[in-house]
Amino acid sequence: MTVVPAASPPVLISGPALGQGFQCAPILWALPAWFGIPSATARYVADIDVLPTWTALHQGDHCVGFLTIRRHFPTAAEVHVMGVRPEHHHQGVGRGLLAAVEEHLRHEGVEFLQVKTLSPARPDANYEKTRAFYLAQGFQPLEEFPTLWGPANPCLQMVKDLRPAG
Ligand SMILES: CC(C)(COP(=O)(O)OP(=O)(O)OC[C@H]1O[C@@H](n2cnc3c(N)ncnc32)[C@H](O)[C@@H]1OP(=O)(O)O)[C@@H](O)C(=O)NCCC(=O)NCCS
Repeated sequence: MTVVPAASPPVLISGPALGQGFQCAPILWALPAWFGIPSATARYVADIDVLPTWTALHQGDHCVGFLTIRRHFPTAAEVHVMGVRPEHHHQGVGRGLLAAVEEHLRHEGVEFLQVKTLSPARPDANYEKTRAFYLAQGFQPLEEFPTLWGPANPCLQMVKDLRPAG
């Protein structure tokens, strides 16, 4: 378990664990600007149940954030979905979750971590913050997929090199 010192009071990062849908669903519901399509949100909850997930626990056991990983290859993984309760945004919880996940993945030999998010080709103030978060954590834009999620939601693939420097 990792303590996130930036958050006040500190949160504990726990994981990876399966079966976390019940803890993470209320966080998705609290973020309708990002997860506003009920069928897509239900799919995420089902995915979280069967994929490795890290949770951020506040005051012992209140889950305020989570990050779920999908492994594509032994050396490649993807942030499948993540979220932090709005009242805990910008307190270091997302950074702490990602740091714990990256440490685990590096230990397992993962070299590249990707995430897919809404492209700036469709202007959206909320997803602009999401991209700012990923950029601040060292992800770089890699490719745009204009129709992967349908033409209304152009997808931006971002990637982070987890290999040790040098
Ligand atoms: C994206 C998200 C997970 C980030 O979590 P967070 O706990 O708020 O982020 P942190 O506090 O750890 O931020 C770390 C850094 O990212 C950047 N960042 C975070 N939020 C930002 C914002 N709103 N605007 C600009 N930069 C931001 C900053 O550089 C920040 O460092 P700083 O606090 O020293 O300025 C969270 O905002 C969230 O749940 N968003 C809605 C759901 C979502 O976008 N999920 C991802 C879908 S692909």
